[in-house]
Amino acid sequence: MLGIYLTFAFDRSLRELLKTQMSGLGSRADTIVQLLQLALLGILAYLIVRGLNTMVFGLVRFRRGFEAPTLVRNIFSIIAFTALFLLIFTSIFPDADLGALFTTSAIFGVILGLALQDTLGNFFAGISLQADRPFQVGDVITVGALRHTGVVEEITWRAVKIRTFQNHVVLISNSTAAKEPIEVCPRANLNARLVFFNTLYTDSPAKTIHVVREAVREADNVSQKISPIVRIRNLGDSGIDYEVKYWLDDYAKHNDTDALVRQRIWYAFRRANLNFAYPTRTLVVERKPRIGQHDGDGSAIVERLAAVDIFAPLSTEETSMLAQAATSHVFAPGETVIRAGDPGSSMFVVHNGRVSVQVNESGRPRTVATLSDGAFFGEMALFTGEPRTANVVALAETEVLEIGHAAMKSVFDTNPDLVESLSHIITERKLGLTASRDISLGGDSESAGILASIKRFFGLK
Ligand code: CMP
Repeated sequence: MLGIYLTFAFDRSLRELLKTQMSGLGSRADTIVQLLQLALLGILAYLIVRGLNTMVFGLVRFRRGFEAPTLVRNIFSIIAFTALFLLIFTSIFPDADLGALFTTSAIFGVILGLALQDTLGNFFAGISLQADRPFQVGDVITVGALRHTGVVEEITWRAVKIRTFQNHVVLISNSTAAKEPIEVCPRANLNARLVFFNTLYTDSPAKTIHVVREAVREADNVSQKISPIVRIRNLGDSGIDYEVKYWLDDYAKHNDTDALVRQRIWYAFRRANLNFAYPTRTLVVERKPRIGQHDGDGSAIVERLAAVDIFAPLSTEETSMLAQAATSHVFAPGETVIRAGDPGSSMFVVHNGRVSVQVNESGRPRTVATLSDGAFFGEMALFTGEPRTANVVALAETEVLEIGHAAMKSVFDTNPDLVESLSHIITERKLGLTASRDISLGGDSESAGILASIKRFFGLK
């Protein structure tokens, strides 16, 4: 300020001094003083513009609670400074024709155009980015063929500044950002992630899916708004390949969350006795599994069959023989174990799980019974030789034990009384299959008919 005051207050003396000290200068001494004044006033104008910028945009933030983008602030400063500078210039050099200087100088225009080609390109691309707002400060973006990924920190008149997850700053010029494809994960959006894992073929998918979903759901930064989805991607060489998809509250922390999710899966696997698959070559020597011959499983199967009410009268040896003759099958939730109308020559005991017995009524399924551990089904077709009377569908992952005609025949041979109790059960169930229970009036004769047909079918007296 003092400099400006002095140059204007002692304007005349300064010019005289220059002329006397440097006699060769002549009229150029005037121009030197004017340029000095221009430079000092230019600096003052710059400071005023900065002050104005802070005031105006500070007020906007205070009043509207909205932070103006850097690019807008820069444009404001450039325009204000240019206007002020031109004002100062014309007041110091009143004879200079600025319009003519800019419009008539074609060479100046070409040089300026060429020199500012990139700068102007970035400038206008920046304006279009501000207008379009395809992304904002705080969003995670991935740009271009090199796939730079990071959090947007700033959008200036020249470039988009992103901070990568290695804490590096990458500057992407606005014109590049306007041309290249950009993947945007907006901050205010529930962005999803995928993490892959696998299990051995011996591990049940229903159990795996449940265990992983629960483990991931509780991890920090995993959104509670949408439940994670676990699904099988592939039946791979070494095991079953899965993916878990989950949504993040803060996508900028996705690397940490992915790592935490993997960790949670590991611990959940430990607790649930699930196993990761790794490349292996397994030599399978096939021996048809006969239940009852298994060391680990056998006793559980014998116990299960012994607890089935119709097999209660059997001796321990007979139950073990039945267990040896039985084969086990596992069904996923929703799978059909028995289809109505099919022929059937075996019955099933629910070892663990749940099934629903359904009949079709006017094209819609009606559930007649839900059977769980220790219940049996499929006896009607086995004992009477008629087609299956209903659909039986697994409600949860269900293991069933299948017992065939031959095994039952040997049971009947030694326990003829069984047939009678079975005929009562079958009669009861048949009544349950019809929507109207009125026919229960004929229950006894129905039961006698069934008893006769079982005996006939199994060649019993
Ligand atoms: P099956 O007819 O061989 O095949 C379908 C099975 O569903 C049937 O044997 C029974 O075991 C079972 N089922 C049919 N009706 C009922 C019912 N009312 N309650 C329980 N189970 C039934």
